[in-house]
Parts: sequence; structure tokens; C-alpha cells
Amino acid sequence: MHAHITLLPGDGIGPEVVAQGRLLLEAIAARYGHSFSMEEALIGGCAINASGDPLPAATIAACLRADAVLLGAVGGPQWSDPNAPVRPEQGLLTLRATLGVFANLRPVKPHPVGAKQSPIKAHLLKNVDLIFVRELTGGSYFGAKQKTAEMATDECRYTVTEIERVTRRAAELARARRGKLTHVDKANVMETSRLWRSTVTRLMREEYPEVRVEHLLVDAMAMYLLTRPADFDVILTENLFGDILTDEAAVLAGSMGLLPSASLGTGKVGLFEPIHGSAPDIAGKGIANPYATMLSVAMLLRHSFGLEVEANAVEAAVSQALDDGVLTRDLRKRASVSTAEAGSAVIARLPQRQRRAA
Ligand code: IPM
Ligand code: MN
Repeated sequence: MHAHITLLPGDGIGPEVVAQGRLLLEAIAARYGHSFSMEEALIGGCAINASGDPLPAATIAACLRADAVLLGAVGGPQWSDPNAPVRPEQGLLTLRATLGVFANLRPVKPHPVGAKQSPIKAHLLKNVDLIFVRELTGGSYFGAKQKTAEMATDECRYTVTEIERVTRRAAELARARRGKLTHVDKANVMETSRLWRSTVTRLMREEYPEVRVEHLLVDAMAMYLLTRPADFDVILTENLFGDILTDEAAVLAGSMGLLPSASLGTGKVGLFEPIHGSAPDIAGKGIANPYATMLSVAMLLRHSFGLEVEANAVEAAVSQALDDGVLTRDLRKRASVSTAEAGSAVIARLPQRQRRAA
């Protein structure tokens, strides 16, 4: 197939890990007979430096003409003054809204190497294979905001339509996996949560009666995620709860450097990014772990292009590189593997030339 991919390296370690993502896409194209054209655009702090705008119009245009977008990370201490008129994160939030990517998929399936690195006891991590579906374009992130010297508000607002469309995404995943959906809310306190709970309950009964549904309160879930993570399959939740719980879930995987994400809507363009941040403390040193970005490329191949064989090959190659001890510093204290070496190790572990018939 032919596809056009826009790369948004962003700030900090973003450019280093996205460079490995690009090499991986080129390797997949060569081995499987695809043609991927690519272009790069600015987002976040680097875009503020260049133009004062964290999401310049040229970047939006580059994303809208792409078939998929691969993003590194945004932000850094240089731009984190709370009183600054613009922040790098606004670029990412506006991009999510512009692309309409309301469903953020964040799978967590600890690899043994990561599990060893996790502070959670090994027996609790056995059989952990879960995926978050975080609502990404609503809630308090996008509600009306106000700030005076004396008060501030972030309105949390959800419509039935917003809840339904992301619930369908989660339900489809649950049906293709182990048939269990855990919906997380704060229905004992929040009106939005009560709307979520009744909407999820009704839609699942009407459209997905074969999927088992449970509702858990977010404070309890924060605990269960660490005390019985193997019990969960698909976890559906609103934007802010999902932001918090997915960082917590990264503890299960042992490193933020191993977790990919896919943000999907009903439009054709998906947005793919590692869940880690820009890691300014190690930026520019060539030691950042590129695996989360490479796994995000696998999600891109699967969800945007339907290339399941290629996606599986990338995931297997990353897993094999980890098995073989190709480890960056976040995965083993005295490890000395560079970003580029880890990237090459994955590419070297892809199956050799498997050209498909045209
Ligand atoms: C994430 C990040 C973003 C979020 C920030 C950078 C705006 O933490 O993707 O989880 O809060 O959604
Ligand atoms: Mn986050």
C-alpha cells in the first residue's frame, strides 16, 4: 500500500525516538513492499520558539493531509512557567481536538524485562494484559475555563453522544479480547459520572449483551490496578481519570519507555504516540528508550492501515530485542545501549523480505 505519514518529533527526547520510528517505518516498507512517504512538522515548545504557536497552521495542514500521525513528546522546563501565555501541551490538546481522536487506546502487557523492573510483586503481574480506552476530547480538559485572582474553574461536561462513541470503541475491543469491560467513574459524587454510568449500562445491554460489564469507582480502581491488575481486560474511563490511571498503569510495565498509545476517531487520521513525556533530563544524550515509539508504530500499522501482519512483526521484534537483553538505562541500571542501537536491534529482528503478491 501507499500511505503518507506526518511525523511530529516535538521536544526533549521526542526527536530521538521519532527518528527510530521513521527508520522502522522505512524498514517495514522495504520488507513488505509498501511505500510510505513522510514529512515532519513542529509541535509544542519547539513550535513556540519558532513561531509563538504550539500548533502552527502548517502543522495542522500537514496532519490533515496525512493518513496517520506519529508524535514524540511535547514540553520541557523551558516552557513550563504557569503564567506563560502559551504552553506546549496546548498544541497536543488542540491537535487531538482537531483530528477528533476521541478514543485513546493504551495497552499494558508487561514484558518480563519490564516486570523485573517494576516495584509490584511478580506474582501480581502474571497474566496482566489490559487496555485502557481513555476518552480524549471531552471532560474537564476541554470544558469552559475561568480564572480570576480569587477563583478558577474547569468545567467537566459530557454529552450522551460523546460517551456512546467511545463506549462502542471499548466494547468492540472487549468483544475481540476476553469479553470484559470495566467502566471507571466517580458516580457517588459526579453528575457526569452518573451520565456515563447510565449511558454505558444502556448501550452495552442494547448493543453488546455478550460483553460482561462492571462499574468501579475511580478511587477504588486506583488501588485495584496495583493489587489485582490481572483481573482487568478493557478499562473505559473519562479523560482526566484516564490520564491519571494510565500513568499508574505504567508502573506495572516497569517503565514508561515501553508503553505505546493510539488515539482514534471516526475520521481517517489516527494519532500515535508513546505515553512517556519529553524527559528533558536525558534529552540529547542518545540514551532514551525508543521501544514505546516503535510499539506506537505497530499500533499505527494496525489501526490506521489494517496491516496486522506487519504490526505483529514489530511487536515480536521489540519483544525479542528485550529478551535478548538489548536494554536502555531505564530498563537496567548499568545498561549502555543507545537509542540508535535499540532501534537497530528491533529492525534486525524483523522477518526478512516477505514481499506480498501485488
Ligand atoms: C498524556 C499527557 C497529556 C495529557 C498532556 C501532555 C497534555 O499527560 O498524553 O497523558 O494530559 O493528556
Ligand atoms: Mn498523562
